[in-house]
Amino acid sequence: MRKFHLSLLLIMVLLVGALVPAYAAPQTQDAVKLRMGLLPILDVLPFYVAEQAGYFEAAGLDVELIPVSSALERDQLLIAGEIDGMLNDLISTGIFNQDETLIQIVAMARKAYADSPQFRILAAPRSNITLPSEAAQHEIAISENSVIKYIAQRIMEDAGVNTADLQFRAEPSIPVRFQLLMEGTLKVACLPDPLAQAAIEGGAILIADDSALVETEFSQSVLSFRTPIIEDHPEAVAAFLSVWMQAAAEINADPDAYRDLWLEKTIVPDSVKDSYVLPPFPTYEITDSVAWEDTVEWLVAEGIVDNAATYADSVNPTFLANIAPGDMTMNMGNPVNGEALFVANACSACHALTDEAGAGPGLAGLAVRAGETVEGLSAEEYLRQSMLEPGAYVVEGYANIMTVYSMMPENDLNDLIAYLLTLE
Ligand code: HEC
Repeated sequence: MRKFHLSLLLIMVLLVGALVPAYAAPQTQDAVKLRMGLLPILDVLPFYVAEQAGYFEAAGLDVELIPVSSALERDQLLIAGEIDGMLNDLISTGIFNQDETLIQIVAMARKAYADSPQFRILAAPRSNITLPSEAAQHEIAISENSVIKYIAQRIMEDAGVNTADLQFRAEPSIPVRFQLLMEGTLKVACLPDPLAQAAIEGGAILIADDSALVETEFSQSVLSFRTPIIEDHPEAVAAFLSVWMQAAAEINADPDAYRDLWLEKTIVPDSVKDSYVLPPFPTYEITDSVAWEDTVEWLVAEGIVDNAATYADSVNPTFLANIAPGDMTMNMGNPVNGEALFVANACSACHALTDEAGAGPGLAGLAVRAGETVEGLSAEEYLRQSMLEPGAYVVEGYANIMTVYSMMPENDLNDLIAYLLTLE
């Protein structure tokens, strides 16, 4: 019986849970916290871009990014309810949902492109193995029950190898698999980028990669949330997705601007720090039924799960459908930029950031009172009006002397408002 030990995992987690007091703080509706479990891999870059730019805060979200060192640790945290969402893949989702819908995919996070493979099959340096048919004579090192084995099999199949003949060998630690391949102890292995590129630069031989699977989108990672979070806090999930899409679009527009953040937050081999070309991130895309069905069929065929979770249960496209591309880019400013504009436009000549009065009111607590100052105006509308038409409402005790900023470009205005909304 090769069924994946999800139930065993559950028991372990429950046992650990039993040791701590059975008290859970009451949850308040208005302060949803989204805790996201993140592996130190390239796929998670948009999370960190959004965090650095202050987008989560600007969207009124309380998001905590929780680094995890392995998929196993991530999955344990999810089962224990200690994270609410994560970056994972279709295989992981199919395993989670084999008996009930524990999680739902809400968007695609990354996929293989023709110029940017995610996974590659490599032969050891100086092994003289160059063709898929030759590689198929050796054990392919993979990790069991994982996307790596699934993709390795699909890549070899696509390269014309009869998968019934393939032999696999489990080497779950990716760094160890890399090392053993480079030493020649392993003849053939499947590795993710950018590690695969580092292997090639070190002499490993490229046999085939998942750029061959671009059409089918078999090779992809996804964003998913626990089902209760989706049911109880759909607005938070929607806001989160808008922010994620904006961050992904910004990376696509200028990938090198985020190279340092990528190096800081994920594990990148020294040899490719400068040379690896950051891949595009898909925006407003979601898993289709073809890729899903192929994944669950594989899980069943491999004996990893008994039941194939359905596409309708596991993939939830409603959030993406409700956030129009471009929505956020138009409406949501960048508060970090806004702070720079606040300084550049000499707002501070009249406004202190404390509650001390100057020529204009001190701005401490502005984010809180802005929505309550003029009836019928939201905080954002009030702040916009304060800059475009300061005379429309004059704060009590002050003269109507504020500069009119009606010439300010819309983008800058949005950035400034996003910044003002952080002044709590
Ligand atoms: C010449 C002085 C002056 C400058 C420069 C100035 N303001 Fe003001 N601002 C005022 C005064 C005076 C008021 C209060 C009277 C009013 O409501 O118009 C005010 C009000 C405001 C309010 C409403 C505050 C509240 O407590 O409700 C906001 C928001 C604001 N300013 C933002 C800005 C920003 C952002 C800038 C820079 C882009 C800026 N101001 C530049 C003088 C100034």
